[in-house]
Amino acid sequence: MLITWTEDYATGHREIDADHRRIADLVNMMNDRMQSAPDAIDEAFRTLESYVATHFEREERLMAEWAYPGLAEQKTEHAALIRELQSIGKTLGRDEMAVSRLVMFLAKWWAAHIGRSDMKYVPYIKK
Ligand SMILES: [Fe+2]
Ligand SMILES: [Fe+2]
Repeated sequence: MLITWTEDYATGHREIDADHRRIADLVNMMNDRMQSAPDAIDEAFRTLESYVATHFEREERLMAEWAYPGLAEQKTEHAALIRELQSIGKTLGRDEMAVSRLVMFLAKWWAAHIGRSDMKYVPYIKK
């Protein structure tokens, strides 16, 4: 397992935490499939890509509802990842090193974005 969920990543918001765990599961699934089912990596990646987009929409809508002052910064980080995933998606499946680099990149991104950027809105959450 590449990403291990700990309470350090909990925002306390039920839907957001479920999304973050689901994204971690998908990155871990891609990592597992590098060994066990390389042909199924592309499918896991497409699922991840669409789930990430769904999560970002949900999170941005909630941050706007909470009047979170860091919304613009979050949107910039989200858009950068979406662009990155789109460009990676074009060459994925043809290069084994690219898959392993991608999985490492996603694990680092997950820990940095969820562990730092997303944590900043926690005091603004209105349930
Ligand atoms: Fe998030
Ligand atoms: Fe975020």
